[in-house]
Amino acid sequence: MAQFPRRDYSGPPRKSAQSPPPAQPAAPSAWEGQAGWYDQHQGYGGADLYQMVLLPAVLKRLGAKKGQRVLDIGSGQGVLGRALAHLGVDAVGVEASPSLLEAAKTRAGKHETYVLGDARNLGEVLPGQAFDHAAALMVLQDMDPIQPVLAGAARVLPPGGRLVMALTHPCFRQPKRSAWAWDEERRQQYRRIDGYLSPYQTRIATHPGAAPGTAEAAMMTVSTHRPLSAYIEACGQAGLGVVGCDELTNPRRGTKGIRFAAEDLAAKEIPLFLVLTAVRLK
Ligand SMILES: C[S@@+](CC[C@H](N)C(=O)[O-])C[C@H]1O[C@@H](n2cnc3c(N)ncnc32)[C@H](O)[C@@H]1O
Repeated sequence: MAQFPRRDYSGPPRKSAQSPPPAQPAAPSAWEGQAGWYDQHQGYGGADLYQMVLLPAVLKRLGAKKGQRVLDIGSGQGVLGRALAHLGVDAVGVEASPSLLEAAKTRAGKHETYVLGDARNLGEVLPGQAFDHAAALMVLQDMDPIQPVLAGAARVLPPGGRLVMALTHPCFRQPKRSAWAWDEERRQQYRRIDGYLSPYQTRIATHPGAAPGTAEAAMMTVSTHRPLSAYIEACGQAGLGVVGCDELTNPRRGTKGIRFAAEDLAAKEIPLFLVLTAVRLK
């Protein structure tokens, strides 16, 4: 497992921005308006869920070696690029939000490159470039359609090259159509699912835990729900075969009330994140 700095690691001092950010996002991104907040939230090494769950899982599945090149699709403020760079891997991020791109460049070390572009058009954004592996960390739900993203990723990979996709779990975490609930009779916490097969888009709170009335509580992004089959089919259409699947639970727990044991059991049993690993078939 990669040794990556823990949450109290503040990273090297930020460089001053090299150039002012271009005004226009390369694709519609609700993250542009909250780039400052997101950059602070992730910090240098990633928010706690990234450090505890997402980055270790994605780095393990990528299995990238020192000197290899990895494409980071929708790189945000560069949290994955920095983790890869710590391993001596050359990371190239493609990001639609100019402000997040600037945040990534400002924090970047020598193994990182960040490019403004629409990940649905990787051929134009990175003409003639090739990579050993690619990752899409918590981004495919922010992109629509995903077929061109996956097809573009497949084209820059060699046969056998991996694309690792981390998602909120589409089976258990449908935005606004799923929730934890309590069965009083059975004294069980369960996951209530109100919709699954039909794809939909909805605006969701960026930071659902934010205190009501704060600026954070008003921040919204657009999320696209697709059933699991849509991701696997889109991989197949792009010439990618799914070879790995990690279903990850949330290690965070609330305060220890009388339902704690039941809540803990459910939280350990029902995964809220999915990491799919696909390889280019030929
Ligand atoms: C939830 S953030 C994740 C960012 C980063 N991967 C991380 O894990 O911190 C989703 C990112 O996808 C970017 N994005 C959305 N649509 C995009 C597109 N068509 N092309 C490139 N980036 C896009 C957003 O601007 C945002 O930075």
